[in-house]
Amino acid sequence: MSQLFKKSANLWPIYLIITLIVLSSGLVGFFWYYGSPEYTDVGYRPKQPVEYSHKLHAGDLGIDCRYCHTAVEVSARASVPPTETCMNCHSLIGTDNPKLDPVRESWASGESIEWVRVHDLPDYAFFNHSAHVNVGVGCESCHGNVATMDKIEQKKPLSMSWCLSCHRAPEDGLRPLDQVTKMNWKMPENHTEFAQQVIKDKNITPPTDCSGCHR
Ligand code: HEC
Ligand code: HEC
Ligand code: HEC
Ligand code: HEC
Ligand code: HEC
Repeated sequence: MSQLFKKSANLWPIYLIITLIVLSSGLVGFFWYYGSPEYTDVGYRPKQPVEYSHKLHAGDLGIDCRYCHTAVEVSARASVPPTETCMNCHSLIGTDNPKLDPVRESWASGESIEWVRVHDLPDYAFFNHSAHVNVGVGCESCHGNVATMDKIEQKKPLSMSWCLSCHRAPEDGLRPLDQVTKMNWKMPENHTEFAQQVIKDKNITPPTDCSGCHR
């Protein structure tokens, strides 16, 4: 017995080394995981408490994004509409449609609908909608063609390298201000001239230094 004990005691340095290797590969794994497309959730499309369709409302009915996402031009967050916004129409439309039951229940009880977040950056990264929308970066550049989605889905990786690739060359991400909420927007032929003029006039300099996005 004492022989055995001594032998295993001799193994402690090796255990220590193995532990260190496991720990450091865990650290590499951490950064790999957080930087990998899986974590960035392209294609993420959670089930929502109401079968609300952007394709129907923003596409077929042509309701502007800002009718519901009212804060998008004035604040960092775009905001999801309160039940009241839905009831502007649905107190009259679809009153016997069972798909609207949860909306009516929320209206009657005063408890907001618990929409599941789709796009979500980690807290250590700073993002601001108004700073983008007010210089002419369209919703479509970052959210895809929402007017074709029955259920909203994450279309872009929202990773650091994705943000930076536009910040380093923002030309293709800029459009006239009256087109920011337009879906399926086609870049005109003289786009480069237009974009260079906007960049000059508005002195557009998207941050590429760490403190610009990690404040
Ligand atoms: C009639 C109201 C309404 C209109 C119009 C509307 N939305 Fe929405 N939007 C919602 C609601 C409600 C949600 C939350 C439920 C969901 O995610 O489907 C939402 C969610 C979203 C999300 C996902 C939010 C998250 O959790 O990450 C994006 C992106 C979005 N909308 C973009 C747009 C764009 C772009 C337009 C215009 C083309 C638009 N919306 C028009 C009501 C609206
Ligand atoms: C500007 C008017 C308007 C607003 C605002 C509006 N809707 Fe609608 N909604 C409609 C119309 C029109 C229809 C189609 C009715 C029909 O086909 O019978 C509809 C249909 C629906 C349906 C039924 C879809 C189906 O397949 O039967 C749901 C669910 C719905 N809306 C949810 C919402 C929610 C949730 C909100 C708020 C975030 C909202 N709507 C805001 C006009 C509106
Ligand atoms: C430059 C890229 C970019 C543009 C342009 C953009 N978004 Fe977003 N959006 C994001 C990111 C990134 C998030 C996640 C933010 C977070 O987690 O802090 C987001 C989140 C959202 C959300 C969820 C609520 C929130 O604010 O976190 C909604 C709704 C939304 N966007 C709607 C819109 C609409 C409508 C437009 C156009 C008027 C738009 N976005 C333009 C990148 C963008
Ligand atoms: C399609 C192009 C595009 C994408 C994608 C994009 N940005 Fe930007 N960003 C811009 C432009 C243009 C500006 C405006 C710069 C200015 O006004 O000088 C800007 C400005 C900013 C600012 C400065 C805002 C302020 O208040 O000073 C921050 C922070 C920022 N972006 C973060 C992000 C993050 C984080 C992402 C990725 C999740 C991202 N951006 C994706 C184009 C983009
Ligand atoms: C344009 C905005 C932007 C700038 C500039 C930026 N970052 Fe990031 N960074 C992000 C975003 C957004 C994430 C979150 C990515 C995700 O969720 O996948 C991130 C994530 C990270 C992470 C976590 C690991 C990873 O790769 O996802 C580290 C570490 C980091 N940034 C360091 C830096 C350093 C160092 C700099 C300066 C050289 C910098 N960042 C500049 C937007 C930015």
